Amino acid sequence: MALLDDLRALLGADHVLTEAADVAPYLSDWTGAFVGTAAAVLRPADTAQVAAAVGACAAAGVAVVPQGGNTGLAGGGVPDASGEQVVLVLDRLRRVRSVDPVADTITVEAGVVLATVQEQAAAVGRLFPLSLGSEGSCTVGGNVSTNAGGTAVLRYGMMRDLVLGLEVVLPDGRVWDGLRPLRKDNTGYDLKQLFIGAEGTLGIVTAAVLRMLPDTPRRATALLALPSVDAAVALLPLLREHGGGELSTWELVDRQALELVTANLPEARDPFGEPHPCYGLVEYAGSADHVASRLEEALTDGVERGLVVDAVVAGSPSQRAELWALREGVSEAQKVEGATLKHDVTLPITDLAGYVAEVGPRVLDALPGARLVVYGHIGDGNLHYNVSAPVGDDDALRAAAPALTRIVYDAVAARGGSISAEHGLGALKRDAAASYKSDVEVELMRTVKRALDPRGLMNPGKVLPD
Ligand code: FAD
Ligand code: MLT
Ligand code: ZN
Repeated sequence: MALLDDLRALLGADHVLTEAADVAPYLSDWTGAFVGTAAAVLRPADTAQVAAAVGACAAAGVAVVPQGGNTGLAGGGVPDASGEQVVLVLDRLRRVRSVDPVADTITVEAGVVLATVQEQAAAVGRLFPLSLGSEGSCTVGGNVSTNAGGTAVLRYGMMRDLVLGLEVVLPDGRVWDGLRPLRKDNTGYDLKQLFIGAEGTLGIVTAAVLRMLPDTPRRATALLALPSVDAAVALLPLLREHGGGELSTWELVDRQALELVTANLPEARDPFGEPHPCYGLVEYAGSADHVASRLEEALTDGVERGLVVDAVVAGSPSQRAELWALREGVSEAQKVEGATLKHDVTLPITDLAGYVAEVGPRVLDALPGARLVVYGHIGDGNLHYNVSAPVGDDDALRAAAPALTRIVYDAVAARGGSISAEHGLGALKRDAAASYKSDVEVELMRTVKRALDPRGLMNPGKVLPD
């Protein structure tokens, strides 16, 4: 293939992978649900090489699938089955270009791992607050492109709220330099917003200027045993009032999710003496020791109001890590357990408890024995309403999946919610999203796609139906 020769000349032969064993890790997603094939996997070293490679692919009419840490949960970063697409991996764009504690910005290349950004900010006494279970391997380019959320959105917002500027390689190989560290810039359309959350369908993010925030070295963390999801919702304003702006995390883990974690992850144990319907992980973070007393007061208030049944407060960094592992281990534990149907829904928070009460019985009617694994970012109104197969019967879950997903999504739509809160649409949810959006909204999205990628060569088949 002449294109591959051109790409070898541009990137160096070692960075154009075609051997089956070399390309295999890039062809399937974290869940294992999406597996494709590719003409090659490209590993450019810098923005100029990304631009040159994309330009060569455009000239040859070959589609490009961008990939970062490959931790995405919607099948967005893997190629289709045609074998004609190329995967372009950003893992060699790993430079931290600058850290500026006066402007409170950090400028990094797309392949920098999220945990590295957090560490670099901490090294100058600042916080980069985006925090995900996958932060040890997901990348800034992926975080921007999925508009990632995670466990501190309640206080700091999603990735979109942390991006000041972007550098992007466009589908024809030109570079848009929007890498500006400005807090104020009203010079027409805010183009960076188009690429945030676009899942690689409009261009390839090669670098970003990100905001840093004041560090919060004091943390007060507790796992609460709760009588119901209703109580978890009712606790949100109480936790906010006592927290004085320092509430960073309010996460839900239901009993089934906790059982999967303690059964499948070696170090995990249930810290309570008896089972409870669900659990809440709360964290106050600030610069002074009062976070601990504020949390104590909140818990006392919660117990008096009958919203908290029991609580374990972390007394050391290692206990804090143990409590966090019970929350962040759910994805891994569910994967180990067998087939999973993932849903990432968001609702007006006041509708959450009613939603859970209505949907659970419907799912169980449709698939008796299914295990409801309901957890997530309850402070944001975002539930991972996941369903694990009945014990030992993955096939039953696969057969029932379309009907179960319809039940979960119809109830979201009826309440004005969204079927994708933070994971994006990828290949997994593109058809469902289009079916719940208005014709006007889908057409506007198509118009944007056509304007930036008229030949449909940038991550085709993702986000929008063909
Ligand atoms: P990839 O998986 O490689 O790609 C994701 C999408 O972005 C694909 O469409 C890809 O084409 C595109 N893309 C990647 N890099 C670029 C680029 N440079 N330019 C253009 N497009 C690009 N997500 C959350 O939001 N919140 C969570 O709490 C959360 N927890 C998770 C926990 C676990 C255990 C796991 C495995 C995943 C979790 N995720 C979560 C999902 C995932 O980590 C995020 O979506 C993350 O932002 C993906 O980053 P990545 O580098 O792995 O991207
Ligand atoms: C999480 O919050 O743990 C992930 O976003 C959920 C998932 O893996 O489904
Ligand atoms: Zn999540």
